[in-house]
Amino acid sequence: MSDTQARVDTRTRIAIASDHAGFEQKQQLAAWLVGQGLDVHDLGPETDERVDYPRFAALVAEEVAGGAADLGVLVCGTGIGMAIAANKTDGIRAANVTSPAFAALAREHNDANVITLSGRFVDVATNKAILAGFLDATFGGGRHADRVALIHALEHQRCGAAASGVVGYRSHLHCHSERSEAKPRNLWSRSDQLQVGGSFDPQSTAGAVEDSSTGSE
Ligand code: RB5
Repeated sequence: MSDTQARVDTRTRIAIASDHAGFEQKQQLAAWLVGQGLDVHDLGPETDERVDYPRFAALVAEEVAGGAADLGVLVCGTGIGMAIAANKTDGIRAANVTSPAFAALAREHNDANVITLSGRFVDVATNKAILAGFLDATFGGGRHADRVALIHALEHQRCGAAASGVVGYRSHLHCHSERSEAKPRNLWSRSDQLQVGGSFDPQSTAGAVEDSSTGSE
């Protein structure tokens, strides 16, 4: 897979970083991304000296969330710690991916804007194919956009903030004002209905999501 090519928009700006466990692959993957014609910001580290992965996850997350980069790539031993850390930044949807198919789905269904990779358990040729799958794919919109809007609402965990964040989300947004601030953990009563406080009938289908595209998954 050494000749893996991505069909990329070369205006795409990529922020990339790693920890010590992902350093060697980060170097190779950054060079491969440059070879694809992309604008690559290598945010470190510059050596394989032991470092804490959350610090580098935060650097990439800030660049992507702030708009200085379009997409982020993070490499650690497993990719897991990087994903957990990056997802603490509002606006980041980081996916830990170990196959090209999942990379494409992370863009198509989840609008992932950061991909996290394993430098210890996945070989570099596979990681290049994963990056190619990630870069080639585009967000599907439709029902997936509704769900990504709900992810955005989760970042706020308050009724008012959630409601304002759910742009385009349809009539099943039920936001009860009483004690909403006191019961943030009740925000999500089921996957397709947003409710804070008040009574909730889990059997009710009122306001269930209507798919706006073909298929219903
Ligand atoms: C470092 O030993 C390792 O914990 C780190 O690279 C990563 O795998 C964490 O998720």
